[in-house]
Amino acid sequence: MKQAVEFYLNGKPVAVDGLPSMPLLFALRGALDHKGTRLGCGEGHCGACTVTLDGVPVTACTTPLSAVAGRAVGTVEGVLAQDHPLVAALIRHQAGQCGYCLPGILTKAAALIDQGRRVDEIQAALDENLCRCGAHARILAAIAEVAS
Ligand code: FES
Repeated sequence: MKQAVEFYLNGKPVAVDGLPSMPLLFALRGALDHKGTRLGCGEGHCGACTVTLDGVPVTACTTPLSAVAGRAVGTVEGVLAQDHPLVAALIRHQAGQCGYCLPGILTKAAALIDQGRRVDEIQAALDENLCRCGAHARILAAIAEVAS
């Protein structure tokens, strides 16, 4: 049965009517019209759908709507709105090609940078968020510049 789930999206209160088991990704892209979070594998492997939950990166395709009730969800739209320094670094390093993977990478890396994680820890955490276009080395260079 559908139920109203209330949570905070990029700092603003929102409510979504949906099945408790519905992936958060579908709520973000559908009811909430936040299309920056991408659907890739749909199974928690590729990281294209990465968002933050109370500041911790999670895959929105494997996070049920019921799990975010009362909590804080952050998406790439929030990272862009706060003008995170990683955005400018990615542009400086020309680290975007097709751009499909970039919202997940940006969201995860920005969260880990904000937590004060070391460059090697962030790079290891991005193992699953691989840029298949070939820009991955430039992405890692941009992250290293900001995290150092
Ligand atoms: Fe691949 Fe969610 S879409 S991890």
